[in-house]
Amino acid sequence: MKLLTLPGDGIGPEVMREALRVVDWLRAARGLAITVAEADVGGISIDCHGTPLTDAAFAEAAGADAILFGAVGGPKWEGLPRAARPEQGLLRLRRELGLFANLRPATVHPALLDHSGLTAERARGVDLLFVRELTGGVYFGEPRGQSGHPPERRALDSQVYTEAEIARVAHVAFGLAERRTRRLHSVEKANVMETGQLWRAVVSEIAPKYPDVTLTHMFADNCAMQLVLRPTQFDVIVTDNLFGDLLSDLAGGIVGSLGLLPSAALGAGEPGRTRGLYEPIHGSAPDIAGQGKANPVAAILSLAMALRHSLGEPALALEIEAAVDRAIAGGARTADIGGSHATRQVGDAILAQLG
Ligand code: IPM
Ligand code: MG
Repeated sequence: MKLLTLPGDGIGPEVMREALRVVDWLRAARGLAITVAEADVGGISIDCHGTPLTDAAFAEAAGADAILFGAVGGPKWEGLPRAARPEQGLLRLRRELGLFANLRPATVHPALLDHSGLTAERARGVDLLFVRELTGGVYFGEPRGQSGHPPERRALDSQVYTEAEIARVAHVAFGLAERRTRRLHSVEKANVMETGQLWRAVVSEIAPKYPDVTLTHMFADNCAMQLVLRPTQFDVIVTDNLFGDLLSDLAGGIVGSLGLLPSAALGAGEPGRTRGLYEPIHGSAPDIAGQGKANPVAAILSLAMALRHSLGEPALALEIEAAVDRAIAGGARTADIGGSHATRQVGDAILAQLG
């Protein structure tokens, strides 16, 4: 099996280092046969190769079973036009590898209730799974662009969805809901948007194939409020690219830190053996980059997701997740969750739990 790491910018490399120590453990202690290669993405790739993702790096990604991604972006590249920015490396991987289903779990750890942005009472028991559509919508819709001159400039983005794009991500979400508490919320703005109407219609048409799942449609604005007021009403939430981006960050506020949240971007394929790109949903956090303060939990949990969805090793995924839970319960915490541990010390604590 082949793992490609793309550490990227900011805190990406430092959290990746801890995830790679877990890979070493998987090889040594569990006999996992896996090779690891590394390539550049984002700002570092712009600096070294003049593009956010070289064709060679893309080809490596296309040939890997799983891609572990760090983070991209930072103040140095902020002035670049959109099409030349570090983020384009990530967007190209998602789009050209067909990684349309973005799984973003968000679980409140019982030991971290006090760090939730919500009252402990509201946050207790939160166990969400966002299924964000990742290769369509306003992120990629054409036409787009800017035209004109001040004071008459104009900018255009297009939100476009086809029935097939909605249906395939809905099937993923229904399938996941069947294996959880069988509640699925489908989130859009059907009251305002054409794509929202199509989204609602297509999801409704698929629902009868999953009779055990209770489907609820919800407008995205209401969903944002409900997530704050009563997050435990939700289990699986399927939504489009943009709403999924917003609502999954909101989930970071519920859980207490984006530094805890992993994600998986999956294409079509055999469950458990689908090629995927795994990334912590925190960004490059330039303010703390290089200081050894970043929380490596999201990166390590992303590796666990890779074991589950791409590498056919669900038991190893559970083992890592349980070790992370115990390490956090035991007080291994970086500053974002109220502790004073360094990145490396949290890595140490997780490895100690793995034994
Ligand atoms: C995310 C990020 C990305 C996105 C950025 C880095 C392009 O915010 O994965 O949530 O907007 O999808
Ligand atoms: Mg985001």
